[in-house]
Order: sequence, then C-alpha cells, then structure tokens
Amino acid sequence: MRNRRLIDSFGRVADDLRISVTDRCNFRCIYCMPAEGLHWLKRDDILRFEEIARLARLFVDRYGVRTIRLTGGEPLVRVKVEELVGMINSIDPTLDITMTTNGVLLRQKALALKEAGLKRINISLDTLHMDRFEGLARSDAYGRVMDGIQAAREAGLWPIKLNMVVMKGRNDDEVVDFARLARDEGYEVRFIEFMPLDGDNIWTNEQVVPSLRIQEQIEDQFPLVPFADTRPGPATRFKFADGAPGGVGFISSVSQAFCTTCNRIRLTAEGGLRTCLFSLHETPLRELMRSGVSDDHLGGVIEAAIWRKEEGHLINQPGFVKPGKSMSQIGG
Ligand code: 5AD
Ligand code: SF4
Repeated sequence: MRNRRLIDSFGRVADDLRISVTDRCNFRCIYCMPAEGLHWLKRDDILRFEEIARLARLFVDRYGVRTIRLTGGEPLVRVKVEELVGMINSIDPTLDITMTTNGVLLRQKALALKEAGLKRINISLDTLHMDRFEGLARSDAYGRVMDGIQAAREAGLWPIKLNMVVMKGRNDDEVVDFARLARDEGYEVRFIEFMPLDGDNIWTNEQVVPSLRIQEQIEDQFPLVPFADTRPGPATRFKFADGAPGGVGFISSVSQAFCTTCNRIRLTAEGGLRTCLFSLHETPLRELMRSGVSDDHLGGVIEAAIWRKEEGHLINQPGFVKPGKSMSQIGG
C-alpha cells in the first residue's frame, strides 16, 4: 500500500533511510570515537532483526522509501547481518540496499552480503599509509581493509565508493593520491568534511578542509567534469575529464550545507528515529513497537516526527549545539 510520502514542514520528501544495526565498532577513528570506546548499548536495547525489518517494510511499502543503507558503528560486527540484508531484500528486490563499513571484515562477509541482496558498498578509508592508519583508526588493520576492498570487488559489490574524512594536517596531503586511486581502480572516492560528531570533542573548524580546496588540488592534476546525477544527493560528483574510470565526490557538510535538499532519515541501533545527524532529540520507536502497536499507529508517529524535521544544522553559527551522540551512536 504505497499511498503516502514522508514530507516535512519545509516540503522535503524523506526517501533515503539509514539504519544503524549496532553502536559497536572494532575501530576507534579519531573523528568518531574515543580511544577507550563508548558505553555500548545492551543487547536487549538494540532492535532485533524482525523489528528492523518491520520498520523497513513500513518505510518501503507505505512511504515509498527506495534506498536503505545499513550503518553502525561497524555494521559487520553485528552477528549474521547478511540475514538482515536478506530480510530487507525480500520486502522488494529492486530496493537500493547499501552498506557503509570500515571494510575490515569484508574478506569474510562480502560474498554472503552480495548473495543476500546487498547492491553497493561504501568503505571508509582515510589514508594510504599503514603507519598513519594506525594513528587515525587506532587499529592495525590497514592490510585487512585493503584486502576487504578487493574482496568486495571480487564478490561483485560494485560500484565501490571509498569515504575519506579529510582532516587538516593529518591526511589532507593525500587527496591527490586518493583521486589517482579512484582513476586506477575505478572507484568513486568521496571526500568528506570533518564534522563535529566525534566522541572525543576534538573538532574545531580549523581542522576542516573545505571541499573547494580539495577540488582545486585534484584539478591541478586531473581536470574534472560534473557528473550528470540522476538523483539528488549530498555529494557533488565529478568524473575525470580525460575519460579515466572512477570519479570523485565532495560532501561539504560544513562549508556548504546541503540541508535544503536533504532526503535522509535515520534509525539508530536502539530504534530512535532521527531526522538530522545534528538532531538534539529523536523519536523512540522501540518500546512503542514492543508494546504491540499497529502499523497505522507506528506510521502516525513516524509521519509526525518527519514533519518536524529541522530546517538545517547550524554548524559555525552562534546557535550550534553539538549533539550528545557521536557518529557511531547515530549511524553515518
Ligand atoms: N565527520 C565526518 N565524517 C565522519 N564519519 C564518521 N565520523 C565523522 C565525522 N566526525 C564518516 C566515516 C564513515 C561514515 C559513516 O561517516 O568515515 O565513512
Ligand atoms: Fe568505527 Fe566508523 Fe566510527 Fe571509525 S568512523 S570508529 S570505523 S564507526
């Protein structure tokens, strides 16, 4: 019964749902989590697969959501997450089901994910130097991540997007190397501005490298042409002017917020519906579901929450308040 869209009071339609399947992670990226980790959710407080699938079905069947991205924490640390992919795929096999992962478990999981119906994959990679990797992700898994990317490719999870969070003085000297990697391997590399969603409170505006600066550096070496995008998205996407494979994208959350066209909504691992990464409140759905409410009731709560979606975030403006949650607790 596809009879409604999820519309907010500014007229935006939410049709891209991000579902965090766990708040846990086997990395401790400095822009996301403290070295000692965070206080993890208890098992019972995390949505069960059946609960996630029920919500996914509601979003797809009733509200026409077309893209579902599984995130975390690290989604692949959730036991048998490929079963969840299968459950979501069975709602509608034409759904665009994707995942954002740190890649470290992909050698074990890529084939099972593909077979379960995962269509595409985004892998986080912030440096091409093993020693730096240890400093950024606080993990020695560089080799396994590189092998995981290869495994995704072999399994047919294609196209592959690589997410690079660019931080001044830490990895911003590698952006041209990443563009070269995109060309050599046919990946789309997405350069993401560092956002104030870290668990350690280290974010400052001075560490943000504006996308336009990154683009200039890349264009010095490899001229770019805009990608004729079919769907609106947060990334400004480019191909290489000389026709090389792959491409680059820029996610300028800080320097050029894309809030006016934001079509995203998020479900946290504990079943909170969030209308913005920077929301200061969320709508808890878990206990409502466990109390046995009908889909109509649940739908009413969801519609009301989306209607209240905030106009946009206020990073770098006087009214900005950093959310109490880090990226890993929200879902990227
Ligand atoms: N700023 C920008 N991007 C971030 N990510 C995690 N934390 C931050 C942050 N503070 C990215 C990860 C991953 C995606 C889910 O979000 O690198 O690719
Ligand atoms: Fe883990 Fe991703 Fe956060 Fe890194 S950014 S600590 S891989 S959840």
